Amino acid sequence: MKFFLDTAHVPDIQEATALGLCDGVTTNPSLLSKEDGDPRRIVAEIAKICEGPISAEVVGLTTDEMVREGLEWAQVAPNIVVKIPMTTEGLKAIRLLDREGIRTNTTLVFSPVQALMAAKAGTSMVSPFVGRLDDIQVPGMELVSQIREIFDNYAFATELLVASVRSPNHVVEAARLGADIATMPWNVVQSLARHPLTDIGIERFLADWEKVKNR
Ligand code: G3P
Repeated sequence: MKFFLDTAHVPDIQEATALGLCDGVTTNPSLLSKEDGDPRRIVAEIAKICEGPISAEVVGLTTDEMVREGLEWAQVAPNIVVKIPMTTEGLKAIRLLDREGIRTNTTLVFSPVQALMAAKAGTSMVSPFVGRLDDIQVPGMELVSQIREIFDNYAFATELLVASVRSPNHVVEAARLGADIATMPWNVVQSLARHPLTDIGIERFLADWEKVKNR
């Protein structure tokens, strides 16, 4: 499973890249609004740091606006993937951008049939938002499981990208279900490596070494 960073914060992307844990990046208007400076320049900088796909989202609501913005984002860097919201206007934009050879990531997916429609339209990735479903007491991972089954039934090339990841448990479940990608905030990436027994084990080894090191 590929690890994407769900952030527009450049230092975190640099750190994850140094760790070899940045297979791509997903941004959105909310994440870009937290950073200082021109969003296009931030995305361009991210696209230089991380060689994988970098998602940048359109904000227009009509097909024409989405296609125009998508073409503009595609000029920013060769590894840009245009994020399109899952609407009927968005589906038309996905088809048109696909014909131009521009990859898309269909975002705000909350049902299996939305994922199926996006795959049929030719999207490169679909992003089910598991955390936001959990927030309304609907198990987000059940949606991931349903999309996996549908994509495997028909051998769609569309990648299943688990988004709105809030905890290491989401990452484990995404991997167990065979998601292609999990995109996660930096705090989740950091917490993946931690285990209290690892910390206790290191402390004990160091304490024991103190007793014998000067023998
Ligand atoms: O990739 C989509 C993600 O940014 C949404 O996450 O935590 O705002 O639901 P969240």
